[in-house]
Amino acid sequence: MTRASYDVLVVGAGAAGMTAAIEAGRRGRRVLVVDHAANPGEKIRISGGGRCNFTNLGCGPANFLGENPRFATSALRRYTQHDFVKRVDRAGIAWHEKTLGQLFCDDSAKQIVRMLTDDMAAAGVTLKMKTGVDRLDRSGDGWRVVLSDGTLVTATALVVATGGKSIPKMGATGWAYEVARQFDIRVTETRPALVPLTFEAGLLETLIPLAGVAVDATVASAPEGAKARKASFSEAMLFTHRGLSGPAILQISSYWREGEAIVAAMAPGRNVFDELKAAKAANGRQAVHTALGHIVPRRLAESLCEREGAAGNLADLSDAALRRLDQAVNAWSVKPVGSEGYRTAEVTLGGIDTAALDQQTLAAKAVSGLYFIGEAVDVTGWLGGYNFQWAWSSGWAAGQVC
Ligand code: FDA
Repeated sequence: MTRASYDVLVVGAGAAGMTAAIEAGRRGRRVLVVDHAANPGEKIRISGGGRCNFTNLGCGPANFLGENPRFATSALRRYTQHDFVKRVDRAGIAWHEKTLGQLFCDDSAKQIVRMLTDDMAAAGVTLKMKTGVDRLDRSGDGWRVVLSDGTLVTATALVVATGGKSIPKMGATGWAYEVARQFDIRVTETRPALVPLTFEAGLLETLIPLAGVAVDATVASAPEGAKARKASFSEAMLFTHRGLSGPAILQISSYWREGEAIVAAMAPGRNVFDELKAAKAANGRQAVHTALGHIVPRRLAESLCEREGAAGNLADLSDAALRRLDQAVNAWSVKPVGSEGYRTAEVTLGGIDTAALDQQTLAAKAVSGLYFIGEAVDVTGWLGGYNFQWAWSSGWAAGQVC
């Protein structure tokens, strides 16, 4: 059996693992990174439509979910979005702000992957791809790890950076949770998040004709008695062949639970009743769906009029009927039956219990030399660059001490 000795073994060459490896390598630690995928940083490469929304200018603890949302504060303060932007600038990667503080590469997400792999090489980090972990044991204060290629690695620190369960096709596994359980560390309930929502067959049938329609909406969760899950997001909402998607829906999916409704305002900030009433006064002979089509996309207007039984001209409709249309547009309460699941979820909600980790270093409190970073931890960001910032910040924090 081949043997190798390192100071730090990082499992997972994603955003968090590579960052921790670079920082530890820069401190003179001998670092090995292993990953069972063929290439490092695959999620970075496909993120943000190939341009990687690598951080958010407004990033702070309020943009994260988890049993203890304040847990992320320390790492996010020590390595901020501005620190990462400086790094991207130093690497000569051009970027732009798209919307709501979201920063994207001008050219390609591959530039971020290259920056990280170049930095790992410069820091003397050894990277082994297509390699997993077959066996993991304590050895004194450190670790004895048998890799899938048969190598026995000893290391003083083990950094678990294998992410969550989203997109199994890309190599996502629940390995971090298995390691936690092996060492009696609690894992909070995990579920797909930042994911499109699905609907029962009857409702879906009425939504399918709208596939492709997008509206700027305000979508709110309607949790029963669960204040922590009360949220609303004003972003685009998209009708699809499977249900609802788009940023506003992905955002609210992190707060939604089975059995609950979500409430969408599809012309937020507009008083639909007043506008229809004014249109009726100006031209009562206008078809109601035409008038509503000046407020929401035409296909949606037609569908809403059909659903509310609002046919004919504006002059034919009572105030009560116009109010019903107002409600249909701006207080559409709808109950998803589920989500598209880990197959398409951008992240996993939940994970390693933060109560078991030191918030400055991400070290396990009860197991010396063990660290959990990135998406594996019960810290989940909103859509918009927050999840990568958590990966950079938590990886950086662990990399200072591991
Ligand atoms: P990550 O999942 O990136 O890396 C884990 C690594 O561990 C992988 O390389 C995997 O192969 C490896 N691994 C897993 N199990 C293993 C095992 N058992 N043995 C060995 N290796 C193992 N976020 C954001 O902020 N902006 C964005 O634009 C996007 N866009 C986006 C698009 C899509 C399609 C998805 C799916 C996700 C996003 N995200 C995002 C979320 C973001 O990608 C995610 O939060 C980070 O990649 C998490 O980084 P980690 O390093 O923690 O895990």
